[in-house]
Amino acid sequence: MSLHTLAATLSRAEEGGYAVGAFNVSDLNQAVAVLDAARAERSPVIVQAIAGFHPYADEGWWWDRLRELIISYHEVEVTLHLDHGRTFDDCARAIEHGFTSVMIDASRDVVTDEPASYEANVELTRSVVELAHPRGVSVEGELGTIGGAEGGVSGVVEDIVLADPALAADFVERTGVDALAVAVGTSHGSVKFTTDEGGQTLRIDLIREIKERLPSTFLVLHGSSSIPPEAVATINRFGGILPESYGIATTQKQEGIGSGIRKVNQGTDSHLTWTAALREFLAARPSEVEPSAVIGVTMAAMRDIVAQRMREFGSAGRAA
Ligand code: 13P
Repeated sequence: MSLHTLAATLSRAEEGGYAVGAFNVSDLNQAVAVLDAARAERSPVIVQAIAGFHPYADEGWWWDRLRELIISYHEVEVTLHLDHGRTFDDCARAIEHGFTSVMIDASRDVVTDEPASYEANVELTRSVVELAHPRGVSVEGELGTIGGAEGGVSGVVEDIVLADPALAADFVERTGVDALAVAVGTSHGSVKFTTDEGGQTLRIDLIREIKERLPSTFLVLHGSSSIPPEAVATINRFGGILPESYGIATTQKQEGIGSGIRKVNQGTDSHLTWTAALREFLAARPSEVEPSAVIGVTMAAMRDIVAQRMREFGSAGRAA
């Protein structure tokens, strides 16, 4: 059986001192690219989907097909995870469709999108844990707010509220979460920092302090994309208009992993390389109209960047 809970996957990562990449997918071809990378690298992997982000008419249909696809990779160790569930209902639906892990992101109010009160975060997160744990499903919560755009192309970093180490222990004790997304200076999306200094300022001190207080909770780094400059340049060379932006340096992520990060979320780097491959291919072959040729190059580009990240995070070669 290829499906594992987040807690099982990350406890092996804790023992081995590495992190497992959690890669966002929004269609079946991207999921194949991620799973092929995991098989080639002999790496455990977390495949994650966000409610509302897919091109299909029926989200339940998409989630069921995604689960079936994962199960067909029986030799690959996979966690099927809901990324940024915003409501109790998002998490309940994902559990119903066989996800082995859910994130409840109650750090922001779902109506106003303003940072939520700590007590509201605790209450909603605990209610998801009470639903998930008896069903054998792991739960990730979020403390502090990670800025930017989840699943989108543009982001803002002004609204980051860093995780408070003093609150982290209280939050985990009161909610019972298995994993905790900590806001330590990253943000989601393809617009992160305007200078390369930004990607060098991950708050390693905060990660260490939280890990010391919570030795048995798995810490999660969101917004970890590096924003490969060659992908941005290719997109812009072939008609794109992405602003210059800097992401998190690989060495910073590795320092974070050395300090206790066990799950590293990445969506944007895959999306940038996917888009760059698409634009370059179509520009080079303006008369191409065969979808399989076009989709094939995007899948290969995504597979390669995901495989590279697995090697960087130390999960390559760790499959049971
Ligand atoms: P990036 O936008 O940096 O890839 O982060 C994705 C993420 O954290 C999804 O939860």
